[in-house]
Amino acid sequence: MADLKTRICGIEFSNPVFTAAGPTAADFKMLKRAHEGGAGGLVTKTISLAPAKVPIPNISNFAPYNLMNAELWSEMDYKKFIYEELTRVKELGVPVIASLGYSPGDLAALGKELKGKGLVDAVEFSIHYVDKDADNLRRTAASLKENIDVPVFPKFSPAIGDLPLAVKMLDDIVDGYIAINSVGPGLDFDIKTLKPYLGSADGRGWISGRAILPIGLHFVASIYNLSAKPVIGVGGIRSAEDVVKYIMAGASAVQVCSLSILKGQGVYGKLAKDLNKWMDENSYADLESMRGILHRQEKGEMHYLYEGKQVLPSVDAELCDKCGACVRICVHEALSINEPVELDKELCARCGLCTQVCPRNALEMKEELI
Ligand SMILES: Cc1cc2nc3c(=O)[nH]c(=O)nc-3n(C[C@H](O)[C@H](O)[C@H](O)COP(=O)(O)O)c2cc1C
Ligand code: SF4
Ligand code: SF4
Repeated sequence: MADLKTRICGIEFSNPVFTAAGPTAADFKMLKRAHEGGAGGLVTKTISLAPAKVPIPNISNFAPYNLMNAELWSEMDYKKFIYEELTRVKELGVPVIASLGYSPGDLAALGKELKGKGLVDAVEFSIHYVDKDADNLRRTAASLKENIDVPVFPKFSPAIGDLPLAVKMLDDIVDGYIAINSVGPGLDFDIKTLKPYLGSADGRGWISGRAILPIGLHFVASIYNLSAKPVIGVGGIRSAEDVVKYIMAGASAVQVCSLSILKGQGVYGKLAKDLNKWMDENSYADLESMRGILHRQEKGEMHYLYEGKQVLPSVDAELCDKCGACVRICVHEALSINEPVELDKELCARCGLCTQVCPRNALEMKEELI
């Protein structure tokens, strides 16, 4: 059995799949369910000084495995969250990361409230609703760091303008990074009633789930290259393979929100179990042997065209069962079912899409021709 333990800023987590700030981390009851569902770390819904007044309705399932939401932060009084909910969450015996927001003043006050209480192992602060100007980010991080005695992680919004500058401005203050928050704003509405599906004042909301996985991976891979500090990945996780991608891109752990809303809070343990199986099958003994390996390969291996190679889809006749999925997806009509699949090199635009839809992994972009 692969070792799933991960250590971040001296905190040991039994597995790298955590909750993320959202409705499935809203209070003790929810976090207890996540713990019973196998979460290796418990991240809370964002706590702020003023309780949120959340519009109704506030979550829409606009595509499979994708959500758009107009939730804000916790609707609970912050003292109740800290003294009633967090006290009981701490008793579950799993490391706890409190999500806090938003202004330097709010964060200083919340930091003082939590300091010395032993209720949380770390804190993350969301930059979702704050001015993403680098000086303001630095001020915001400093005001929390100066007032608390546990590791501090900024949670990046994908709307951040200059990521290298943000990391440069924060790196001597914070203890690590979390990326990413939901993407947007976005809009969707009913074409008969013309009413948006979300009840926010402008009908807009924030997109999460499957579609944002590549954005999350881009952020994690970039932060890994910009800082020596740990990074926790979040966004679009649906399977253990997605967790593997985040770890290979450099993450020390991941957080899961939309999938837990759509499939229930057993998803954390299921992802951890499937991750363990995948690591055993692929000979990774622990997370550290996998972490960041995306960056350790030669550039030529990372990109087919890097060395100027001419590549084309190549079929493995042993694996191909002639299902026709590749033929149907090709807009250039370059593939046809034969003995096995046949490629018309003149028609093929080398886009690579057919290799991604093959359910049997029978197609690969290679120099050899089929
Ligand atoms: C309904 C909902 C509410 C959320 N509330 C918060 C929040 O209070 N604070 C925060 O930092 N992120 C919040 N998020 C963002 C998630 O923590 C996460 O960063 C984002 O959804 C991407 O992860 P996912 O694709 O696994 O959902 C929320 C997301 C959803 C879907
Ligand atoms: S999608 Fe894969 S299995 Fe199906 S016909 Fe094409 S190569 Fe064969
Ligand atoms: S690489 Fe693109 S253009 Fe070529 S066969 Fe595949 S789908 Fe068609």
